[in-house]
Amino acid sequence: PKLQQIDPSLLTITKTTTPKELIPHDKLIFGRHFSDHMQVLPGLSLEWTSTHGWLAPNITPYQNLSLDPATCVLHYAFEAFEGMKAYKDKSGNVRLFRPDKNMARLNKSVARIALPTFDGPSFIELIKQFCQLDSRFIPSARGYSLYLRPNMIGTQRTLGVGPPGSALLYLIASPVGPYYPTGFKAISLEATTYAVRAWPGGVGASKLGANYAPCIVPQMQAAARGFQQNLWLFEEVVDGRKEEYVTEVGTMNLFACIRDKKTGQPELVTAPLDGTILEGVVRDSILSLARERLVPEGWKVNERRFHMREVCEAAEEGRLMEVFGSGTAAVVSPVRSIGYNGGLISCGLPEDKEAGPVTQRMKDWIEGIQYGEEEGHPWSWKI
Ligand code: COI
Repeated sequence: PKLQQIDPSLLTITKTTTPKELIPHDKLIFGRHFSDHMQVLPGLSLEWTSTHGWLAPNITPYQNLSLDPATCVLHYAFEAFEGMKAYKDKSGNVRLFRPDKNMARLNKSVARIALPTFDGPSFIELIKQFCQLDSRFIPSARGYSLYLRPNMIGTQRTLGVGPPGSALLYLIASPVGPYYPTGFKAISLEATTYAVRAWPGGVGASKLGANYAPCIVPQMQAAARGFQQNLWLFEEVVDGRKEEYVTEVGTMNLFACIRDKKTGQPELVTAPLDGTILEGVVRDSILSLARERLVPEGWKVNERRFHMREVCEAAEEGRLMEVFGSGTAAVVSPVRSIGYNGGLISCGLPEDKEAGPVTQRMKDWIEGIQYGEEEGHPWSWKI
């Protein structure tokens, strides 16, 4: 479909008259504090023709939205979002990490729920201007950043179920450190089958708010048993045997390092993009870096289906080397153990360590690029 154009030259900026006090970076709680401003892009069109597309963009003080109670997002969940981050490098420059990937994914997500698409490069231009304006909220400590949340909602006032005739694309920003309240520490997952996050033909690959809310009750149940997150499994009968395939964590994609049973060759494996898995930007980056830097060391790197039987067997035979999650919010997060069928699978991490060597190197490589320490890398966009 033709992307609806945005005109960044029409931007108006209304600065706040009540600047917020900065929170010291070590006191930040993920997603709890916000910067001074927000970016608002109203869209109005019955058919999203080129003549009635996105209206003039605004940057305004951070403030409440005013919505009619019949607004369609509040009833039928017309909402898709992104997660991206702005980083401050050692010289004080502001950097984005592969923002083109976030724009492409948001366009896919919104198109799936009949919200209007937009041209990514123009929105990135607006994001850059926003980041400049609120740059004082970008912590400079390594591991800290300004989390950017683009969000699109359907704003038509109607209880009729149909494509929204109007939409709002807006951006808010939250200074953040580690996603998990435990800090930069290995986490534990609970493998879950009694609830299913996504299924073939569903919308698991789209970043829709509607994918997240239904995961919270299972997350609370996992938390009550001492686990930080659910590892979502998908059951399928293969050759007459029930297999539980590893999918993702909801807030992260999942990687396992497994030594081959016969050859002993190490393999980095993650579930394939079959429509049930979020197409993580960090996931894609890890796969690229692994192909570039681990394959020459003798690794196999595979996007393939793998199931819990394989993970359990590898763990029992001492071949499960490491497990980690990846995401924009979570970056690279080591996994210590996976609760499964009442037992606990140990993921190969010594008790006195918080990350295995591959997890640690991946985190260092990714952050090295994000914070501009790897000179001139094309994934890091200096603004
Ligand atoms: C992200 O990693 O940006 C996410 O969207 C995960 C979570 C904060 C919803």
